[in-house]
Amino acid sequence: MTTEAVVVRSTDAVGVVRPNESKIASIRTYLDRATDDLLASLRNPAQLSAEDRRGIIARYASVLEGNFIYWMTGAYISVGSDEARAKIMDNLREEIRDCHPGMMRRFAMAAHAVPTDADADAVHRNLMNVRLFIGRLSPVPILVTMAFFEGFIQRFMSYLAELAERQGSAEMEYTDVHGVCDVTHTQELFRALEAEMELAHPLPEKELFEGVELLRTLLQSIVVNTNVQ
Ligand SMILES: [Fe+2]
Repeated sequence: MTTEAVVVRSTDAVGVVRPNESKIASIRTYLDRATDDLLASLRNPAQLSAEDRRGIIARYASVLEGNFIYWMTGAYISVGSDEARAKIMDNLREEIRDCHPGMMRRFAMAAHAVPTDADADAVHRNLMNVRLFIGRLSPVPILVTMAFFEGFIQRFMSYLAELAERQGSAEMEYTDVHGVCDVTHTQELFRALEAEMELAHPLPEKELFEGVELLRTLLQSIVVNTNVQ
């Protein structure tokens, strides 16, 4: 959904522009820019070695397989509005019902990119930082972070699929499913965010985007192994 669509929906509902609408729009702008920057930093798959390609898939799997549901659960525990809880529960239900961690694992296995100890080490510190941030259970910053994550994942899927294809894999269920369904997930998370912002005191920008910056650093260590550069 576009920012404009959010504004129209909210304005229609109450007949006036609510203060959070401009805040949501600026959050979207921030997240779009963070995602654009990250995607722009991706290296051309054609110029990567097989080990580079394997490493990116393995580090991505190492983070996603065991953490996505955990962090979304953190979002669920932290929020106070029924609307946000319902949106997050829909997301969690789908993750578990369709066994997304299993889908992730099959994707990595088929690309010969099951994470090794070295892959886990390469993301360890940045992953811990995101885990500790989620553990503070601060609803608005967590929802902003998860909206960023969903949006990034959706736009990253074609790149990830290309890496796997170049690794000789034809197992694309994970990238097919997440290139589509996360569009809806991102929209839902923005609606949840809107609901939570109605309840919360305005936060300083640094606090609002703290998780986004930690996650961005983690994603950088996935797409470029920052441990060895
Ligand atoms: Fe998923």
